[in-house]
Amino acid sequence: MTTYLPSAADAALFGNRFLTNEVPSTAFPDTGMSATDAMRLVAEDLALEGDPGRNLATFVTTWMEPEAQRIIADNLHRNFIDHAEYPRTAEIEQRCIRMLADLFHAPGETTGARTQGSSEAIMLGALSLKWNWRTRRQADGKPTDRPNLVFGGDVHVVWEKFCRYFDVEPRIVPLGPGKYTIGPDDVAPHVDENTIGVAAVLGTTFTGHKDDIVGINDLLVRLKAEQGLDVPLHVDGASGGFVWPFLYPDSPWDFRLEQVRSINVSGHKFGLVYPGIGWLIFREKADLAPDLVFEENYLGKTDATFTLNFSTGSSMVLAQYYNLVRYGRAGYTYIMRNMQENARVLADKLEAMGRFEIIGRGEEQLPLVAFRLAGEENFDEFDIAWQLSAERGWMVPAYTMPPDAHDVKIMRALVKETMSREHVDTLARDIEDACATLTAKGGAHPAERAKIVTGPGH
Ligand SMILES: Cc1ncc(COP(=O)(O)O)c(C=O)c1O
Repeated sequence: MTTYLPSAADAALFGNRFLTNEVPSTAFPDTGMSATDAMRLVAEDLALEGDPGRNLATFVTTWMEPEAQRIIADNLHRNFIDHAEYPRTAEIEQRCIRMLADLFHAPGETTGARTQGSSEAIMLGALSLKWNWRTRRQADGKPTDRPNLVFGGDVHVVWEKFCRYFDVEPRIVPLGPGKYTIGPDDVAPHVDENTIGVAAVLGTTFTGHKDDIVGINDLLVRLKAEQGLDVPLHVDGASGGFVWPFLYPDSPWDFRLEQVRSINVSGHKFGLVYPGIGWLIFREKADLAPDLVFEENYLGKTDATFTLNFSTGSSMVLAQYYNLVRYGRAGYTYIMRNMQENARVLADKLEAMGRFEIIGRGEEQLPLVAFRLAGEENFDEFDIAWQLSAERGWMVPAYTMPPDAHDVKIMRALVKETMSREHVDTLARDIEDACATLTAKGGAHPAERAKIVTGPGH
């Protein structure tokens, strides 16, 4: 059979030359291609990857309203850092900061920053802890060469990253089987005069629960009163900062607690904005170390910056503001309650199967279901993750817990805004079917397992 090669003229007229050619992937292309070809090339590549609508691993937003998408698309050409040229965008950022400070019960006027996500917000917040600690130590004529930061094994990897990048000793409280968050008794032995701060999580990546923030705050208040050690508490509310105020408004975790000096939250998680937006909010202006703020004369205007990056898009800041004014407390509460209700139904269905144990039911939690096999089977959680994705395309991660709970395997399904009751019913059925397949055939082959999501997601 002769090889079919469409003429260049036919390809240009009828379609896409990459339907029959290999895509450029190594050398910098010598020639370009038409805009339509380039667009279709990218789209066809992406058609091969997972469907975000069935990605129950990610905390990050996978759907926004058409009106928000229009704001995003209309403002992609606006560099956020050009405050002189785009003063309204800068003002909108400040409005978001003020609204979040209000949501988190800041006692008065304060400050904060828009960031790329919680990781940047945490780096900046923890840098401020380090700088303020050093200033206090220097004022007392004490050494500043051995800073440490205390947190639990339930934190996101960014906290260890901060310690390594910025030369701070991490004091990590280990977890244990059945113990997936930390409290004051865990923290107390690690705090000393070199502690720049304690980090507590509101809505962990692993099970969606919170550390005992009230207990840790009380401990730090006591240390201040009894030993004169003023150790600030930073709350990592990457996910929880947009959940607790709406699902558990009477449960204090924020600036209502005396030692909570800074909070980060991801706008792109339960703030319901597409990826690329996070927030850092300080309790008071004084909690932001002044040395970290750069006064710059850029393009003819002096501006104060407190960021790790510089140029970035404006769209997600504008989209965040859109969501805050579009939903308000009533709208966010409605959406969070829907997600919580669907998570409850999913947990009920999993429990009714008789195979699964639900982790931490009835406790304050993000809208998700964390579960594991209750008894002996001829397959494990990793096998279920594989089978479910192979049979139905659902991405439900399986992972082991951090030390010292690393023998515990967990699965976790995020219940997002777009996860309807029908989706929940279907997912539950699909999980049951995947287990039936595995019961019949035994666990997945190691080569199959190697292809699935095994981290806790983000
Ligand atoms: C508790 C926690 N902190 C920090 C992060 C990092 O957030 P981001 O992806 O916004 O940088 C995550 C992400 O999942 C998280 O769950």
